[in-house]
Amino acid sequence: MIESDSRILDVGCGPASIAVGLARWAHSGHVTGIEVTDEILATAAATVAEAGAANVTLANESVYELPYDDGSFDVVYAHQVCQHLSDPVAAISEMARAVRPDGRVAVRDSDYSTMIFQVSAACAAAARYEMAIIRGTLPARGRMASRRRRACR
Ligand SMILES: C[S@@+](CC[C@H](N)C(=O)[O-])C[C@H]1O[C@@H](n2cnc3c(N)ncnc32)[C@H](O)[C@@H]1O
Repeated sequence: MIESDSRILDVGCGPASIAVGLARWAHSGHVTGIEVTDEILATAAATVAEAGAANVTLANESVYELPYDDGSFDVVYAHQVCQHLSDPVAAISEMARAVRPDGRVAVRDSDYSTMIFQVSAACAAAARYEMAIIRGTLPARGRMASRRRRACR
């Protein structure tokens, strides 16, 4: 799916760790990372600079209105982004517009409704103990972390 010369759009690139990884695969291609948050873009720019990834460009753009012509990319990817969007279907439609006709739109998200969070009774008790200390309803006895570590092994 990803060739050495692929043109990739990383939607909602966050800190750009994935964009930099993609850029290594597509070392003769190009990765465009877009974000809506200036602060995160600054972090992304630092990641790209630190990696020396000359084939990554970052832009402050929204997935809902991609400023790219139809079919501009070989791959359009969104990792853990759709769960934050009010209209993921519109977002994916826009991603599909920006990918070439036989290209790939790839989306990875968590399905929280099928996740199971399982902790042992001892771990839950240790967490309640910690919360009581934090709230000041129990005196700290200095072994909070080790007690939690033992209980949650
Ligand atoms: C959970 S982070 C995932 C970051 C990155 N893809 C990763 O997996 O490391 C979701 C990102 O989507 C961005 N985002 C939210 N709405 C967006 C939009 N309309 N267009 C582009 N990015 C958006 C957020 O700013 C945030 O950085």
